[in-house]
Amino acid sequence: MRDSAIKLTPALLGVLLLAPLAALRGADSPAAPENEPPPLIKPAEPTGTGLLLQPPLDLSEFTTEKFVGLSSTVGTNRIHKKWTSPVVTLPPHTRGEVHGLTEREVKDYMVQVRRLFDEGAANPVSDAGLISTQENVIRRPMLNHISAFSNAVARVYLLVQKTSTDEDWGYFSIVQDLTTDPPADYFADLNGQEIKFEGANCYKCHSSGPLAIHPARGDLVNDPPLAAAISEHIAQQPLSRFHFPKGEVPPDYGKPLTLRFCAKCHDADGYRLPLFRVHSHPIRVLVDFGYMPPKRRLNPSEVAQLKAWLEQKP
Ligand code: HEC
Ligand code: HEC
Repeated sequence: MRDSAIKLTPALLGVLLLAPLAALRGADSPAAPENEPPPLIKPAEPTGTGLLLQPPLDLSEFTTEKFVGLSSTVGTNRIHKKWTSPVVTLPPHTRGEVHGLTEREVKDYMVQVRRLFDEGAANPVSDAGLISTQENVIRRPMLNHISAFSNAVARVYLLVQKTSTDEDWGYFSIVQDLTTDPPADYFADLNGQEIKFEGANCYKCHSSGPLAIHPARGDLVNDPPLAAAISEHIAQQPLSRFHFPKGEVPPDYGKPLTLRFCAKCHDADGYRLPLFRVHSHPIRVLVDFGYMPPKRRLNPSEVAQLKAWLEQKP
């Protein structure tokens, strides 16, 4: 009997089948072929608007393997869950006819979702987030695990986070109280002995409550369909208002951004809430990396107007 020179293993078959396609497309062809669906998560590409205060961070050393390794230190029993609904349903609220959750109830939700995550009963999406990695004083990959939960009275989010060089994971939460009109967003730091409500610290990025998931690079997210589904859930959130904790006076943020090409969506009665200069960090990053406005790029004159507004002293 004659041994065939090449055994056709499944892996080799894959190479044989895919190689001609790759050759046809060219290794780094910019445009995907028309019959390919657009990526679920639009890749982050700096567009050189001049809006960034610091050059885009070089993440080439931060490989997919490093991301997976660091991200997994949170406990592999807690991440990479099989899911059907991206949002975990919480048991019904215990008190009927609620018009405004009490602070105790808000904190109980935060404790509950932290426990669900720790027990491996959440559906976290894991990524290295764009906004917190770029420009930030940290300038290191920011690793996140984000999970969403809800019942009839609340939408609850948990963020488990550390930078690439931190040892320990930190826990943060947002509770949207849906029983008030408009709904109220509570923000808290869960790392101390007591849950600590936060205001201005969180508002400087979270101008409209929870933020959509924007990974720093296409491969720095563990489950793109889950990231897209959670982003969709966040994009469809009710227009809420930021709840400043008792005793914290909200700073005077001056006048909101009124440039039409942003404010037609970011306005008091808009799709998202108004933006102020305090939000300049997420503004610079989301516009430069091509996410805002959502469907087109700003022209040079619009970039100049936005830049002038960002640099204006109040
Ligand atoms: C430097 C900007 C920044 C600040 C300040 C900030 N966050 Fe966030 N936060 C983000 C970004 C960006 C995301 C989405 C990350 C991603 O794309 O993976 C996020 C996500 C979250 C999430 C998961 C739900 C969501 O919005 O996607 C929670 C919960 C959260 N943050 C809580 C907080 C709390 C509480 C504070 C204040 C103590 C805070 N954050 C301050 C940028 C910030
Ligand atoms: C067509 C509507 C639309 C326009 C125009 C638009 N945005 Fe947005 N913006 C959104 C939506 C929807 C989100 C939430 C989804 C996301 O972050 O991808 C968002 C999110 C943001 C955020 C994060 C805070 C938040 O609301 O979640 C910032 C900052 C932001 N946009 C800045 C801008 C700036 C600056 C402009 C003008 C250059 C702009 N946007 C134009 C719809 C718009």
